[in-house]
Amino acid sequence: MRKPFIAGNWKMNLTTREATALAKKLVESLAGVTQVEIGIAPVYTVLPAVAAVVRGSNVQLLAQNLFWVDSGAYTGEVSGPMLKDAGCSHVIVGHSERRQHFGETDESVNKKLKAAFASGLVPIFCVGETLAEREQGRTFAVVERQVKGGLQDIPATDAAKIVVAYEPVWAIGTGKTATPAQAQEVHAQIRSLLARLYGQELADQVRIQYGGSVKADNIAELMQQPDLDGALVGGASLKADSFTAIVRFQG
Ligand code: 13P
Repeated sequence: MRKPFIAGNWKMNLTTREATALAKKLVESLAGVTQVEIGIAPVYTVLPAVAAVVRGSNVQLLAQNLFWVDSGAYTGEVSGPMLKDAGCSHVIVGHSERRQHFGETDESVNKKLKAAFASGLVPIFCVGETLAEREQGRTFAVVERQVKGGLQDIPATDAAKIVVAYEPVWAIGTGKTATPAQAQEVHAQIRSLLARLYGQELADQVRIQYGGSVKADNIAELMQQPDLDGALVGGASLKADSFTAIVRFQG
């Protein structure tokens, strides 16, 4: 009942020429895929160029971040309405790299989620624990704090549209994927938390992606888990053949 959603987070990579070339290949190789929702998140500077390539295809355009004020004296920031204008349908919010390197907090993530909804963008809301937090047995306490903090005062009408991405920090870019059982455990905990916050019906609708060293050779077994509804792919989304293989995991 939940359509899988597989998105590529290109992070801080690819020039206009490289990004449009990759997008063109993906539009071709993924044409006709209807059983999986697809998205790519390039850097801000190439959004209009990539938007022109993916327009009319089944590949949706995502942004990697946004600021919560629509316009004004905020040097270096980009707002939700600007991302909509550039052709984005979704925006990644609260990625662990932003929490780690750019001071993103549960409070700023909450403001950004509200701003995304206000601009008509679907947020992909990232949560996940560090290795130290996992080793201290605090995985779910951390994820619960992140989910509750991020969703503070967000009404069910908006929350119903959200996509959650569970990305254990220790699995990102390390080649150390969470086992399907480890991922499923946290995904199920996130879903029951959503049920406590918003009711079971809404919780059953929300897609929860897994992210962290997803590859063509581990996606299928991850996707067999009942609460895994897709993936947020970093490194393996930068090559057309590996991202295509991941999206086409069902064969
Ligand atoms: P990798 O797939 O490179 O581990 O990155 C995951 C990620 O951070 C996606 O947002």
